[in-house]
Amino acid sequence: MKRVQALTESLTAHMRHEENKALPLGRDLPRPRRLGGIWASNTQDPGLRAGRAPTGFLSWPAKENKAMASPHTIQRSGRADWALMTAIHDALRRDLDQLLHPAASRTAARARWIVFRDQLRLHLAAEDAAMWRPARARLGGDPRGQALLDAMEDEHQLIGPLQAVTHDAFTMGADPRRLRQLLTRLRTRLTSHLAHEEADALPLIGQIMSQRELGAITRAIHGGYRVRHAALTVPWALAHASPDTCAQVLSQLPVPARLLYRTVWLPRYSRNARPL
Ligand SMILES: [Fe+2]
Ligand SMILES: [Fe+2]
Repeated sequence: MKRVQALTESLTAHMRHEENKALPLGRDLPRPRRLGGIWASNTQDPGLRAGRAPTGFLSWPAKENKAMASPHTIQRSGRADWALMTAIHDALRRDLDQLLHPAASRTAARARWIVFRDQLRLHLAAEDAAMWRPARARLGGDPRGQALLDAMEDEHQLIGPLQAVTHDAFTMGADPRRLRQLLTRLRTRLTSHLAHEEADALPLIGQIMSQRELGAITRAIHGGYRVRHAALTVPWALAHASPDTCAQVLSQLPVPARLLYRTVWLPRYSRNARPL
């Protein structure tokens, strides 16, 4: 117990340190240029200039990208930086698919819905704060880049009300046909947004943001420096992921988080998760 507490404190300190280390947005990378529909970064990173993922906190060899393929993902960004992002997207798609075909009780379906709803809200809020807002500051004079960010924010806005109506239907015990109708609509809207984000927004973000900013995005989507969020998000996102994806996502986390995942977060998630 003392060891878990020490790990949690160490992880919290690490996350706060990383937060404080981040440079003020817009200072550490020159503005990107758009050339014939392709984003060209002015960065000095030779790997980036050659079209490879940046080295450092978020990167791993490109050959490992193949292991991340999922039947649900319409199109990957082609950059390995997004292992956690795409694992979360796949988990969102997985939960909606399972909610649409529940084999278990209404109570189990409602419990799964709450987990899904909380994770969806966290994910959209983290992206709004850590991704779209800083990216907008970088893309000040670029109408096409701004239009893409507008589309991302609009799509997030459209998901919110549908998620709220579906939540009300679950809470009020609406009939299964109505629930199915709402979940189908939510799935159409959400999967379309995730595909758009993976195909267009993530490659752009990967080009225009610095490695520190990409690290800040990863931290934001696994729960910021709130360890209790990471303790829920990471095992949920990896619950049905391939061993390669698990390894890639865990490699993005600080060492205390990896230890906590193996010794506390995953065992607790496995004990509490109810099959649908
Ligand atoms: Fe996302
Ligand atoms: Fe999004």
